[in-house]
Amino acid sequence: MTDIVERYDIPEQFFWLRGSRSGPPVEFDSATGIWNVYGYPEAQQVLGDPATFSSDTMRVVPKGMIPEGEFSLEGFITQIDPPEHGKLRKLVTSAFTRKVVADLEPRIAAITHELLDAARERGGLELVTDLAYPLPVIVIAELLGVPSSDRGLFKQWADALFQRDAKVSLNEPSEEQDRDIQATLKPWKEMSAYLAGHAAERRRQPRADLLTRLVEAEVDGERLPDQQVVNFAIVLLLAGHITTTMLLGNTVLCLDAFPEQQEKVRADRALVPAAIEESLRLFTPFAALGRSTMREAQLGGVSIPADQMVMVWLGVANRDPRQFADPGAFTPGRDPNPHLAFGRGIHFCLGAPLARLEGRVALNILLDRFDPLRTDPEDPVKFIPTPTMAGVRRLTLA
Ligand code: HEM
Repeated sequence: MTDIVERYDIPEQFFWLRGSRSGPPVEFDSATGIWNVYGYPEAQQVLGDPATFSSDTMRVVPKGMIPEGEFSLEGFITQIDPPEHGKLRKLVTSAFTRKVVADLEPRIAAITHELLDAARERGGLELVTDLAYPLPVIVIAELLGVPSSDRGLFKQWADALFQRDAKVSLNEPSEEQDRDIQATLKPWKEMSAYLAGHAAERRRQPRADLLTRLVEAEVDGERLPDQQVVNFAIVLLLAGHITTTMLLGNTVLCLDAFPEQQEKVRADRALVPAAIEESLRLFTPFAALGRSTMREAQLGGVSIPADQMVMVWLGVANRDPRQFADPGAFTPGRDPNPHLAFGRGIHFCLGAPLARLEGRVALNILLDRFDPLRTDPEDPVKFIPTPTMAGVRRLTLA
């Protein structure tokens, strides 16, 4: 997609943004020991077959790479397979309903206006710091029931977990990778302790918030154990903001790169949801998902042995010319647009309705308040360095 690559300084690691890929749909990378899945039908096959492609990736991480007993992934919903996954998903879905999300619309609009007003008073808008970061984090904190004034802490943890450029490798751990893992454990432990404190308080004193609904949620007479409540709250706190931050930044970037599409969307606001979907396809925030093979698998013409790590590159599959015509173009009216940005199958993103709502509300308000919506050529856009997360980390509006 030449427009975005030519206009902005896209880092090397976002290789899929640099034109369409011509290699095979599945490739083994001997440097990392990981099987990379790039094709759309192949990605669909992996995500649709949890019996062969397990979400438990820790089982294939060589022993000793992650210090044992340092952190627990118990109840970490994205890492669990059926049948346990179905039970946990049912439990948390009963607490995180569509109605809970839909009722947030006026609050999301109010927070967006407040944040934009504050930025105007300061004299300019850096989209990520002033809106795209704080909006989803305030929303998810309010929803969970943790003080949104603690968002400096959440940012510190999220930055420590995601703002790194190290490539994952299963081969001999390098000193750099070791340092990286250690640096990840600290914020993880702090976050767990923080949320455990809040969950314990809700058990003693229930409130009208999601954390209380999680500690009280019951399926077949069973409640979630404490560690699972904490780990689910971690997923919500992390997944609930960093990805949506990227969605907002990336959508503004797409509208900046394709001004004629911005005009169309501006003229017909019914296209706003389609613009969000197309941004998710073209500039997929969660660019890659991990899986591990439970048995030998045939995929895209190759045979993958059992107990291998597989990376499904959603960001590349979403640009597979076998599935999407003119895949490098930003086309908000694209119909159908079966992108994989929220995953597929049993782990399909639980927060998709919230992310879509935040995206729609914020984008409509940005279009109302900024005409045109343009990046500042004097202050180049900067990107998150993490290879598997694609998003802007600094975007100043002109
Ligand atoms: C799962 C992407 C926003 C909560 C996922 C998965 C993807 C994804 C790709 C599938 C993971 C897998 O199959 O291994 C995104 C993107 C978002 C977003 C691109 C924003 C643009 C949110 C929000 C929340 C959330 C706002 C919550 C408030 C979750 C949860 C799961 C999940 C709980 C796990 C579901 C399961 O394992 O059953 N998300 N997400 N996400 N997401 Fe999101």
